[in-house]
Order: sequence, then C-alpha cells, then structure tokens
Amino acid sequence: MKPTILTISGSLRANSSNDAVIKAAFDFIKDKANIVAFEGLGTLPHFDDNPNPAKEVVAFRELIRKADGVLICSPEYAFGVPGSLKNALDWTVTSGDFVSKPVALITAATGGDKAHAALLLTLRVISSVLPDDCALILPYIRSKMNAAGEVADPATLSLIEQAANNLLQNIEATRLAQQEMG
Ligand SMILES: Cc1cc2nc3c(=O)[nH]c(=O)nc-3n(C[C@H](O)[C@H](O)[C@H](O)COP(=O)(O)O)c2cc1C
Repeated sequence: MKPTILTISGSLRANSSNDAVIKAAFDFIKDKANIVAFEGLGTLPHFDDNPNPAKEVVAFRELIRKADGVLICSPEYAFGVPGSLKNALDWTVTSGDFVSKPVALITAATGGDKAHAALLLTLRVISSVLPDDCALILPYIRSKMNAAGEVADPATLSLIEQAANNLLQNIEATRLAQQEMG
C-alpha cells in the first residue's frame, strides 16, 4: 500500500516558492505515495495549551496522526522560523503527534540556515524521525524558479527528488523498525 505523506508549507504567501518545492517533490514521488496538503496553517488559533482546542487544531493533529510521513517546506523570516509554522508545531507538543513520525524538512529561503537549524531542533525534540539525509536547505530559492513559478533549476530539482525519495526510505525504515519492536 502506498504511504500517505502530509505536506506542510511554512509560507502563506501567494506564489510561494516553498509551495513550488512541495509541488516538485510531489511530482517526483506521486506514483509512490499519496500526498495530502495541509492548507490550514493560517487559520490555526494561537497556541494556548487549551486541552480542548478548536476543531482546526483537532483536524490538524488528526492529519499528522494519519500520515505515514510529513514533508515540511519552510522559508526563513528575520533569521527565524515563520511564526505560523512554529505555532502549528507547538500545538503538537503535548499531543505527541510527531512522536516516531518520519519527517523531511526542506528550508527554501534566501539563506535559511537559522530557521533550518531551529526547525531541526524543534522537530527532533518532539521526537520525529528526521535523519540528516531528509534535511535540505535550498538557498537563493527565488533565483531557481521560472516565470511560471515552478522550480526550474536542474540541480535544485535533483536535490528535491533525492530528499523526497529519502523520506520514502525513512517511512519504510521506520515501519520495519516499528514492526520488529512488535
Ligand atoms: C519579512 C521577510 C523577512 C525575511 N527574512 C529572511 C531571513 O532572515 N533569511 C532568509 O534566508 N530569507 C529571508 N527572507 C526571504 C524569504 O525567506 C524568501 O523570500 C522566501 O522565498 C520566502 O518563501 P516563499 O517564497 O515560500 O514565500 C525574508 C523575507 C521577508 C518577506
């Protein structure tokens, strides 16, 4: 059975390059996985640790729980993680939705190294399975796009393909490890 991958873009911008990176990743693995896009980042309430959160939070957590893996693509703003993405991740801490969840992280920005490092820290502290080969920084991403808003640079596309396939391997390896543990 094909695994289900939930994609989360950390950008709410129209014509986002991170959305384009997700689209490129999807095109590479569409025959090998079912892709579900999380579209609700901008409508999640601010995190307040409410034990009975809004239905948007419940639905977001459910999407993560049901997915076999998660692909997160994010820009960097002011040397940090976009607030809306950090807010979404904060909602998953106590519910533990990312525990043992295979994840790939692509940070596509101008530089992106600081948001990338912070996201890796967060995703690993909430116990997702995020090996180094599932973490990718794509600097100067806007220069790698064509006029139609697609990722067009062959080297960048190759890196995205590799990361997407590494996520599939991560999902399979995690599944086998969990099976062995009973
Ligand atoms: C307010 C603002 C702050 C930004 N700060 C950074 C930054 O600190 N580091 C960086 O690498 N890029 C920074 N950028 C550039 C974005 O990461 C870049 O435009 C990226 O393409 C945005 O992602 P998107 O195309 O998916 O919306 C910033 C952009 C904006 C609008």
